[in-house]
Amino acid sequence: MDFGFSDEQLMIQDVARRIAQEKIAPSAEHHDRTGEFPLENIRTLGENGLMGIEVPAEYGGAGMDPIAYVLAMVEIAAADAAHSTIVSVNNSLFCNGILTFGNEEQKQLYVRAIAEGREIGAFALTEPQSGSDATAMRCKATLQDDGTYLVNGKKSWITSGPVAKYIVLFAMTDMDKGARGITAFMVDTEREGFHRGKTEPKMGIRASATCEIEFTDYVIKPEEVLGAEGEGFKIAMSVLDAGRIGIASQAIGIARAAYEATLEYVRERKAFGQPIGAFQMTQAKIADMKCKLDASLLLTLRAAWKKGETEKHGGRFSTEAAVAKLTASEAAMWITHQALQIHGGMGYSKELPIERYFRDAKITEIYEGTSEIQRLVIARNETGLR
Ligand code: CAA
Repeated sequence: MDFGFSDEQLMIQDVARRIAQEKIAPSAEHHDRTGEFPLENIRTLGENGLMGIEVPAEYGGAGMDPIAYVLAMVEIAAADAAHSTIVSVNNSLFCNGILTFGNEEQKQLYVRAIAEGREIGAFALTEPQSGSDATAMRCKATLQDDGTYLVNGKKSWITSGPVAKYIVLFAMTDMDKGARGITAFMVDTEREGFHRGKTEPKMGIRASATCEIEFTDYVIKPEEVLGAEGEGFKIAMSVLDAGRIGIASQAIGIARAAYEATLEYVRERKAFGQPIGAFQMTQAKIADMKCKLDASLLLTLRAAWKKGETEKHGGRFSTEAAVAKLTASEAAMWITHQALQIHGGMGYSKELPIERYFRDAKITEIYEGTSEIQRLVIARNETGLR
């Protein structure tokens, strides 16, 4: 076992850290306050390979491994979680899905523009009445005599929905078959029949635009089917396994930023004649924050390593990804909570980013599978029972 990183992994981490510190961190407060989508920064990330970290160079990406993806995501999330949400969806839900399940034409057409940061990608699974229970979707794609599909229905909570050029869509092609009746499709948002609905006013990750989308007789050509008909649910689940590594990395970045700010604060802030970091009650919190942060990072790196292994040898990394996401997201919530408590009134004030970290951390326990769903996945896989 080797706890070191390769030169390539360190290089992408350095690039991500530089952009995160020079471009993203300085505008994070503005983007959080205004909710403005950070298009310019996303372009810069794309120009530097960070919108397609695991995408091979032939499709416009950086050609790195899943470990490099974790390292880069942590740096971006530590500067601003909203940016890292956009990066994560582009990398792990959009590019990864097409690279794994798409054909050569689809890879050339959809992956390059997204990996280079020229366009934004999205992933449409959730519906107003179907979140954790993903097979309860009602959006329908009906096969026509000419081989095209006619799509009708609504999807909600679509990250980057307001700005996406292409979307990976999951729709029912056979309502009677449940999970096996779902098919994945590629959608071009500039075509007729695609509409954007209300945007979500969110508690955190405010600059990552989120909206409802609707399809009315939207026509999908046969070459826009991703994978085989009826394979959509498995595609969604396996893509979400990768996505959960991204969200775990995001949680670690948020938690690290809160932890580092807290370390600085407890050394400087004095009470009762000494730095508050000298009090045992603060020290216990610092020690627990450090343990949770390190455990989250190690579990997330293990999941990324396992993803790399399954790419070479087959198999799944569902359990490792769920363990990483569950641990890291709950750690991020706990760490940002403690950071806010230690900062006292200053933590509650918008003058410091602590309250933003706290608000941003919460979503990591919700999207790409709630903590309850992660526990269900882990326990089902461990016990073999359901
Ligand atoms: N990889 C491949 N296939 C998988 C799989 C995986 N990880 N997990 C399940 N499958 C397959 C199963 O093997 C099964 O196949 P067969 O029919 O051949 O047996 C099929 O999928 C159905 O599996 P289940 O019976 O386990 O399905 P279920 O209905 O019980 O659901 C679930 C399982 C774990 C609850 C799943 O629905 C789930 O993960 N729900 C959460 C959904 C989610 O994460 N949503 C996030 C929205 S996207 C988002 O948040 C993005 C964003 O904007 C940031």
